[in-house]
Amino acid sequence: MFVMADDTKLLLLFFLLSSSSLCFGFEHDIQCLKFVQQSVIDTVGVLESTWNFEHENDGFICQFTGVECWHPDENRVLSLRLGSLGLEGPFPQGLQYCSSMTGLDLSNNSFSGPVPTDISWQLQQLTSLDLSYNSFSGSIPQSISNMIYLNLITL
Ligand SMILES: *[C@@H]1O[C@H](CO)[C@@H](O)[C@H](O)[C@H]1NC(C)=O
Repeated sequence: MFVMADDTKLLLLFFLLSSSSLCFGFEHDIQCLKFVQQSVIDTVGVLESTWNFEHENDGFICQFTGVECWHPDENRVLSLRLGSLGLEGPFPQGLQYCSSMTGLDLSNNSFSGPVPTDISWQLQQLTSLDLSYNSFSGSIPQSISNMIYLNLITL
């Protein structure tokens, strides 16, 4: 019986620790970049070769090509600069998990398809957005006008 109680305590501790890191958003930002890597077509292999999720430590994602962090020891994305990297495919997925990201540059790639209509929900903290020189189709989502911090936009 006591063994079980210890197990329960351990489990509780585990949940407390994992939920506190979720609260700070660090796990979210790692998940964000995993989704991005999985959803884009990486013709040159730059994300494949420089985004390595195997050795997780404080600030490891800050070494990835195109990733700028708020602080070098924290896995929290400030901006994602993926311009001119030979990327293709739809608008990257999972960006909503980079919840404190202020800059996104996807310029000069071959992204195609629509810009998501919920872009303002996905990228609430964004101050700069560069989607220029791609093959996006369809209209510019009206919700972009809800991105209240946006002050630089290049389409
Ligand atoms: C666009 O990307 C290509 C390589 O994909 C590069 O050669 C070119 O200089 C880039 N242009 C700009 C304006 O960044």
